[in-house]
Amino acid sequence: MTDILKHIDAGVMTLTFNRLERKNAITSAMYGEMADAIAQAQTDAAVRVVVIQGHESIFSAGNDIGDFLQHPPTTPQANVFRFLRGIAELEKPLLAAVAGPAVGIGTTLLFHCDLVYAGDNAAFSMPFVNLGLCPEAASSLLVPQMFGYHRAAEALLLGEPFYAEAALEVGLVNRVLPPTEVNAYVQTQARKLSGKPLSSVLETKRLMKGVQSKTVLDRMDVEIASFGRMLQAPAAQEAFGAFMAKRKPDFSKI
Ligand code: COA
Repeated sequence: MTDILKHIDAGVMTLTFNRLERKNAITSAMYGEMADAIAQAQTDAAVRVVVIQGHESIFSAGNDIGDFLQHPPTTPQANVFRFLRGIAELEKPLLAAVAGPAVGIGTTLLFHCDLVYAGDNAAFSMPFVNLGLCPEAASSLLVPQMFGYHRAAEALLLGEPFYAEAALEVGLVNRVLPPTEVNAYVQTQARKLSGKPLSSVLETKRLMKGVQSKTVLDRMDVEIASFGRMLQAPAAQEAFGAFMAKRKPDFSKI
């Protein structure tokens, strides 16, 4: 069984995180599969809308930390960055169904979605500082823009989780639903979009994204350089070592 399920029906490509035993933590191989699927969606006439979803109990625990240590994404060609550029540049609509925890990239990928629906059990977090890292996916730009600076600082500097109602209030999610209904509801919304004239959908998305598109890609590149460097530095090594050893990290000397 693959860790990313890909299904195309009625013009909707659905990508499902399918690694429940690891809380849908994402490996480099999984990023590669998703990057390839997004590249296919961009050009395949059978795809008019893309959906990313998890399970009703967990969206994603973010980067797989063990895999991260084995395959550190230190170059712009790394699968994770290929995936992130892919969703930032995708011309077709991208929807997400989020239930349960959405950690790290599980939250930051949502800033590149056009519509996001959440279960009332959704818990969003961007604990990059707690891991000795810095934001990715242009979240250092997009989170302050959407949340306002002080709420962004709470989310990105303290790395504390925030929940479905707060995400609704700041505009990160469109609607909160019972967790068992989120995936089905997103399929309904995706099919609505799939039935609309594609040329008009594409042009409307392009116009809404506007001049911001290049700024987002530029910010991703700046973040990638910092992220790659910080991944090898003592703080991240301590944070990841502590996670693997199931102990609290000790940053007192870093
Ligand atoms: N990378 C690798 N393994 C992970 C993981 C990750 N990001 N997240 C969870 N796992 C593993 C756990 O180590 C555990 O493994 P074990 O069964 O061998 O002990 C298993 O998945 C189940 O996780 P657990 O923590 O017991 O589940 P939970 O329901 O109590 O909590 C989370 C779920 C997502 C809140 C919690 O696992 C978590 O915070 N994970 C780390 C998230 C993180 O820091 N991600 C990196 C972002 S850059």
